[in-house]
Amino acid sequence: MRFTVAIDGPAAAGKGTISRAVADRFGFAHLDTGALYRAVGVKGGDPVDAARGLTPEDLARADLRTLEAGQAASRVAVIPEVRQALLDFQRGFARREGGAVLDGRDIGTVICPEAEVKLFVTASPEVRAHRRWLEVGGDERQVLAEVRERDARDMNRADAPLRPAADAMVLDTSEMTIEEAVAAAVAQIERLRG
Ligand code: DC
Repeated sequence: MRFTVAIDGPAAAGKGTISRAVADRFGFAHLDTGALYRAVGVKGGDPVDAARGLTPEDLARADLRTLEAGQAASRVAVIPEVRQALLDFQRGFARREGGAVLDGRDIGTVICPEAEVKLFVTASPEVRAHRRWLEVGGDERQVLAEVRERDARDMNRADAPLRPAADAMVLDTSEMTIEEAVAAAVAQIERLRG
């Protein structure tokens, strides 16, 4: 059985939490595609070489979740050759036997336009910054500034910009609890799974 759930959206909208819950619920494999770009961003050297030579150790680094790694990821993610180098791995993962959930920015639009389910998970910049600040601490205004900067870069790049696929269900989690957001995602998958 091949079944792909594509979950896209801006930073800290709840994609990761929803993706892990959905993968658990349906027994699907999960790929956090942002981790690929984060690993390329923190590796240093030439980003295209880093993307072509990415290893499991690169993906296991402890510093991938920092704000700096997020910014570095967003910067290397504008490079078409970096995106190209990561494409086949993501497509192969999406069509693996047993079902897959991929979360990122361009899963429903570029990586897997044929995904059976597409969700676009979003929330206001303020809510997202607050959630990220609860995770990383520091100055909340600075976190909000970084969220806005990353949104602008991810949405305005020429190659695979962040936007909902035409057939994606948009899920605004600004006013939702995690449980409500997961329930809405699960309901949509069950509806489309038949
Ligand atoms: O989801 P995240 O915050 O871990 O993603 C980090 C950055 O990686 C994000 O700002 C843009 C880039 N990214 C991307 O361009 N395409 C994806 N599918 C996933 C992430």
